[in-house]
Order: sequence, then structure tokens, then C-alpha cells
Amino acid sequence: MTDYKRTLITSALPYANGPVHIGHLAGVYVPADIYARYLRLKGEEVAFIGGSDEHGVPITLKAKKEGVTPQDVVDKYHGMIKDSFQRFGISFDVYSRTSAKVHHETASEFFKKLYDDGKFIEKTSEQYYDEEANQFLADRYITGTCPKCGNEKAYGDQCESCGTSLNATDLINPKSVLSGNIPVMKETKHWYLPLDQYEPWLKEWILEGHKEWKTNVYGQCKSWIDSGLQPRAVTRDLDWGVPVPLDEAKGKVLYVWFDAPIGYISATKELTPEWEKWWKDPETKMVHFIGKDNIVFHCIIFPAMLKAEGTYILPDNVPANEFLNLEGDKISTSRNWAVWLHEYLDEFPGKEDVLKYTLTANAPETKDNDFTWKDYQARNNNELVAVLGNFVNRALVLTQKYYEGVIPEAGELNTTDRTTLLEIRNIKAEVEKSLDNYRFREALKLAMDLARLGNKYLADEEPWKVVKTDPERVKTVMNTCLQITANLTIMLQPFLPFSMDKLRGFINLEELNWANLGRTDLLPAGHKVNTPELLFEKIEDATIEAQVQKLLDTKKANEAANAVAKPAKENCTYDDFQKMDIRTGTIIEAEKVAKTKKLMKLKIDTGIDQRTVVSGIAEYYEPEQVIGRQVSILVNLEPRELRGIMSQGMILMAEDADGSLKFVSPVQTVKNGSEIK
Ligand code: 2FM
Ligand code: ZN
Repeated sequence: MTDYKRTLITSALPYANGPVHIGHLAGVYVPADIYARYLRLKGEEVAFIGGSDEHGVPITLKAKKEGVTPQDVVDKYHGMIKDSFQRFGISFDVYSRTSAKVHHETASEFFKKLYDDGKFIEKTSEQYYDEEANQFLADRYITGTCPKCGNEKAYGDQCESCGTSLNATDLINPKSVLSGNIPVMKETKHWYLPLDQYEPWLKEWILEGHKEWKTNVYGQCKSWIDSGLQPRAVTRDLDWGVPVPLDEAKGKVLYVWFDAPIGYISATKELTPEWEKWWKDPETKMVHFIGKDNIVFHCIIFPAMLKAEGTYILPDNVPANEFLNLEGDKISTSRNWAVWLHEYLDEFPGKEDVLKYTLTANAPETKDNDFTWKDYQARNNNELVAVLGNFVNRALVLTQKYYEGVIPEAGELNTTDRTTLLEIRNIKAEVEKSLDNYRFREALKLAMDLARLGNKYLADEEPWKVVKTDPERVKTVMNTCLQITANLTIMLQPFLPFSMDKLRGFINLEELNWANLGRTDLLPAGHKVNTPELLFEKIEDATIEAQVQKLLDTKKANEAANAVAKPAKENCTYDDFQKMDIRTGTIIEAEKVAKTKKLMKLKIDTGIDQRTVVSGIAEYYEPEQVIGRQVSILVNLEPRELRGIMSQGMILMAEDADGSLKFVSPVQTVKNGSEIK
């Protein structure tokens, strides 16, 4: 193992085209933050790098759809993401963005150096081009029929219906998203990183040199390498991104996956003029925190880029996580199936640590995992409240009660006291081992064992009973409990920073570094502690039910949006149709029918007469919204009585996918009484 002097922690740059959700947090930012806080607490030199990934085709598509510029899109989401990370307490040393000037310069220079050193190969190939929009089409700018499943809305890189990854040229009936036209093939030149040339080196470096990497990471790398690496284009025909710094490459930009990881370097430059020591000194340990979909980029492509450049260090580890699902379904931005960080922060103020705790306790470290609101509630109520909160609260309340908050001198320790206190050191060693190996959920469980130990000690010693018979013994017991409490503030600091700051406030203790963990004299006799508030509070069923309901509503909305039209009814004859006398008419009066939810009484000018119709539209419209509206009315429907009102005819309505009713009205106003046929 190399002896490192400092640690550079990078966390995947989230795309600035949507807010951050719990999947991002569990996979990347929470573990990276725990690691950064842990190392800082150990007194190590750390740079924790974050930033927004602001290039790539999806951002340009979103901008087009919303009628704004890509810069508008990234400004909005970068601001939102940065703010929510800050509120959540992700302790970045810098949070930058790839549209920053320093990044454009850095990425551009990086490319230029590889170009000048002859590290790229140049290739001309034919790609789809939109002659009306005068531009080459990125894969996502082409849709067509999937050759596998027949889905007519497959993209040039993937069919989202059957999941097959595609080349744009595989699509049947390709169409440009920009103009709707059929694209033509046109020659274009691009620069490629010849990954095949790096294969022997990657084999050696990863497959031989990094057998300690997580199984999921090592396995993915091995499978990529074993199936043979191909040259990868690092430029694109697009007008959003870092321009390729070559005269002959007008209108081309760097591929987003070429510039994004260089964003870690640019952000470090923004952080410190001494950025080179973080990137070029072999005594720096670099660790990339990412999700599993980013493994190939961080373990193969970016290292090959760094190797080609020649002056940079390589990652020591890439502890990528699997995915977090939500209530049994894949988290999805487009389907709004997520718990969004900014919404959580608004709806659960002061509960940042509860989410951090749940996401760590249930982290998708070795396999995909599921977040459920029930589990969130249980973790809070049964662990944070019942174990940790309960222990420190009892320790501090009893100290107030017996000693007015002044810590008593311990008497002679018995075997239980000694083994209990000694256990702190054992737990410390175990937690360190887990953290050093990126096993965060295990580390948290072990750290919580200290609170469990405290609870058990208190329950076994029963100071509230012993105080009547042996008050001297109680002094020792309470002193022991307070030393455990002080140790908890250190051990849990990386995981629950807000709560441990609060707890240190209760016991008037300054922030102590990791080396103090295990000491049994952190709070000397005579030291005063305060009356505590509750460290965690119970989360009620109603709160959880409201969140579950929110998700059910989302599901319903998605189902409605995807609903397929009902099949057509049996054929009818033209004569059948002719029997119906449908006319245009105008609503001239409207009022809700008392004691009903659905019914509205309308007076309609049908051109033939003015008549009353009772219609089931009251759930969707107010009377004042419908007066004056022209409608279609079946005028020869047998009159019938509804709630004591004689209804003469029926207004035609279209039922939308969500069950709501919309008027079927002529697009242009026509004379009332006109026949609809
Ligand atoms: O997958 C993603 O969300 C990418 N934006 C991650 C980029 S990580 C790095 F390379 F910047
Ligand atoms: Zn398909």
C-alpha cells in the first residue's frame, strides 16, 4: 500500500438538467461526504471536489423543448443543485461547473496537448445530417423505428421501449428531431482516443494492479477489457460544449464525456493555485465516487486520457455504487419517480441527518437497493430515536437530575465499566477498517453499536434504582455514560454532522479530532453539561402516508399519460348515426345542482329553443367558466329527470386519460343549431 500524503476526493458531476434526487445522494454524495469528513477529522489533507456537468445533448434538447437557451437551463439547475447540496451539508471544498471559463480553458488545453503529442487518430465517417437545420445530428437528435421491437419513437442511441442500444443508422425511417425531415448521410471528421492501444496497460494496471477494487467495479472493467476496446470519438458535431481548439474543427465541440472528468481538474484549479500538487504528485491519493453507470468512464476512458497526457496521477480507487430504487421502481427523472433533495429539505426541515442515515444504512454498495418511506420512518423511530437519541437523552437528563449538570468524579471502575470503556477502542478500530475500505453502511452500523452499548450499560446498571442505595456508584456510572456520549460525537460526526454538532452543544464540547476517540477523560469531572433538547424526534404515520400518497399520485398521473385509447366499439350503420340529432348550442346559464358533486344545470340556446340540460361536469368546471361557451348537444335524446330536474338532451364531452371531461366545441364559432354530421 502506498503511503499517501493527501486525498483528492471527486464526486460525479451531476448533469445540470434536473434537480438532485436520493439516488444520486445514496450512490455518490453521501458516501463521498462521509469519507471526506472522516479524513478531515483524522487531520488529513483533503480536497473534496464537486460541480455541475453542463454539456451534452440532453441539455440542448431540454432547452429546445422549453424555448430557452442551454445556458438558461444549466444556470437554473446548477443554482438549484448547488443550493440543495449546501443545505444538505455535503461538505465540498469547491462546487464548480463545466460552463466556467477555467473549465473551457482547461479542457481545451488538455485536448490540445494530446493532439500535439499525436495521441489521437483522425477518422472521417458518414453521419446523419439535417439539410434544413444545416447541422449534423447527434444520436439523440434522430428518432425512428426500433429494428428490434418496432417502437416508432426509438432514439439514435437507444430504444427506451426495449432497452436495446442502437446506432443511429440502425433506425428504420429515421427522422430529424429538429425539422422532422429525413436526414441525409454526410462526411464528417472526428478525433478518436485509440483505447485499443491502451488495452495492455489497462490490463496490467486494473486487472493485475487493482484486484482490491470492489467486485462490481473490477467485474465491469474486466468485462469491458476482455471484450476488446475500440477507439472512441472525443469530438462531436454540436454547438453546445467546449469548442475543439483546432482551426479545421469549426462547429465541433469536445464530447461531453471527454470534458466532464476534466471538470474535476478545473474545479481544483478554482479551489487552489496549488492544484498541481493534487493532480500530479504521486503522494496524492485520488478516489472517484460515482454510480455504476459511470464505471467505464472513470476506470477506463479517463485514466487512458490521463495516461496519454502523461503528467497526471491515476485513481487509487473507484468505489462505485449500484442503484437505489424507490418503492420498488427505478428512479426516473422523466417519470418524476424520485424523492427530490430540494423538496425533502423543504418538507423535512432539520432532518438532513435522518436522510443521510437512512441512505447510508441502506446504501446500494453491493447490489441495487430500495428506498421506502416505511423504512425511513423505521430507521428514524427505531434507531435514531430509540437507540441514539434515547441513550444521550437519558445520560444528560440524569446528569441534570442528580448533579445539576455538573459531571461527577468517577469512583473505582469495576470490570463492566472497564470493558465497556475499552469497547470504544475496539469499535473505533472496526469503524476505521470499514471506512478505509469504503464500506460505509457497515461503518455506520458499527458506530451505532457504541450507542447500543451505552443503552445496554445504562439499562444494566439502572442508576435510577441504585441512586437510592449507593449514590457513589451512580457517579461512576454517569461519568462512564458521559464519556461514551462524548465519544459518540466524534465517531458519528462523519455520518450525522448536524446532530453531532447539536450534541456537542448539549455537552459543551469542542470538535475533537478522530485521534481522541477511545479516550475516557473527554469530559472531566466538574465540567458542566446543559439540559438537552431531543436529538431526534419520532416521525408519525401521517407524515409518511403523505409522502406515499404523493408517489401514488405520480404513479396515477404517469399511468394516465401512458394510457392507450380504448378499442373501438362494434360498427354501427350510417342510419344508426343519422338517428342522432347533434347541434351546436351556447350555454347561457349555469348553476351547480344542490347536494350533488357532479351535476350542473345548464340552460342552452340550441338555435331551435332554449332548454335545460343537466350535465355531469361540475367536478371539472365552475358555472362562470362555462357560461358563453359553445358546445355540441344531442338534442333528440329522450328527456329524463335527474334530481327532480327535467334534462332535455346531452352535452358531448371528451373524457381525458385522467378521467377529466373536456368540451367538444367547434373550433370556429358557428350559428347555434348548426347540425353536426
Ligand atoms: O452520469 C452523470 O450524471 C454524469 N454527468 C457524470 C459525470 S462525472 C464526471 F466525469 F464529470
Ligand atoms: Zn426497441
